[in-house]
Amino acid sequence: MARADLLLKLVVAGKSGDSKLFQQTVEALIAEERSKQHHVLADRLAESLRSATPPKQSPSFINDSIRNFVHEIIPNRHLDDLIISDAVLEACRELIEEQHRSELLRSYNLEPRNRVLLTGPPGNGKTSLAEAIATSLMVPMYTIRYEGIIGSYLGETASRLNKMFEYIRSRKCVLFFDEFDAIGKERGDEHETGEIKRVVSSLLLQFDELPSHVVVIVATNHPELLDRAVWRRFQLRLLLSKPERQQIEEWFKRFQKRFEQPLGHSLKTLSERLTGLSFAEVEEFGLDIQRRYILSMPASDLKSIIRDRLKQWEAKYKLKSEESE
Ligand SMILES: Nc1ncnc2c1ncn2[C@@H]1O[C@H](COP(=O)(O)OP(=O)(O)OP(=O)(O)O)[C@@H](O)[C@H]1O
Ligand SMILES: [Mg+2]
Repeated sequence: MARADLLLKLVVAGKSGDSKLFQQTVEALIAEERSKQHHVLADRLAESLRSATPPKQSPSFINDSIRNFVHEIIPNRHLDDLIISDAVLEACRELIEEQHRSELLRSYNLEPRNRVLLTGPPGNGKTSLAEAIATSLMVPMYTIRYEGIIGSYLGETASRLNKMFEYIRSRKCVLFFDEFDAIGKERGDEHETGEIKRVVSSLLLQFDELPSHVVVIVATNHPELLDRAVWRRFQLRLLLSKPERQQIEEWFKRFQKRFEQPLGHSLKTLSERLTGLSFAEVEEFGLDIQRRYILSMPASDLKSIIRDRLKQWEAKYKLKSEESE
């Protein structure tokens, strides 16, 4: 019998149309069955995975002509999953309300806001927040694929962008430009080619002309590289900084709840010792502990696992060590 968590994942992958998750889960199932010496079943699963044709009617809204320009995801993450400052949360809630109640605004000749800039160091929730906004709006999220858009011939990029925007304009969606500094750099930068400068100018114009039901979210780790013309375009500019101690404590509170047992350390101590990490790193720390815990079952000693890992992580990230307890 396959493991319950794998079966669950399979259902989630099927429902959300996440083909990568589907592929990974079936591969895990195959490995699992093989390890139990169920070779016939494993072979049949592998064969079905290889030969299965993609469904004719994919859940995707994207048509073939722009598949190279954007990547579509059906959003899954929720605002409540994220630990963000009250100010950022409030701003997102306002945006979502304006979008949901756009009819009322329009009846007063007003448009909802739809242009958002997310800044902050890596691993603190820019991509996750863009997805959570799309979930709240109940719309798909399209992430720009720069490698598919930026062409080598003169004018090619601009014409692809036009095509992409033409397609997007008639849809309610979140349009996400990740690592925007890669193309939105100070336009005076002499190392940039003329083509890139033209691309940025034409993008900025397109942003202005987009209907307000398309929510454009732009993320960057390097806001200082964006020039003022870019900044000005965004009605909401939100900073997602590294977590403060209390936010790390909140993260561990949720972690402990998911883990369904006490961690054996005060959450205050844990958060003090890990202050300085990004959310992504804190999450990695949590996964690290979970792995060690599972692999040392049934005699797992969570308290000592965490103690050892804390020491390792403090050394690895050169965090200030406070041997408290
Ligand atoms: N504010 C947060 N609250 C809870 N978890 C978070 C938060 N921010 C990030 N994470 C976790 O860290 C992981 C990485 O976050 P994410 O990819 O959104 O960061 P990012 O800012 O887009 O990073 P990058 O600049 O590298 O693209 C996510 O999987 C998420 O689970
Ligand atoms: Mg990101």
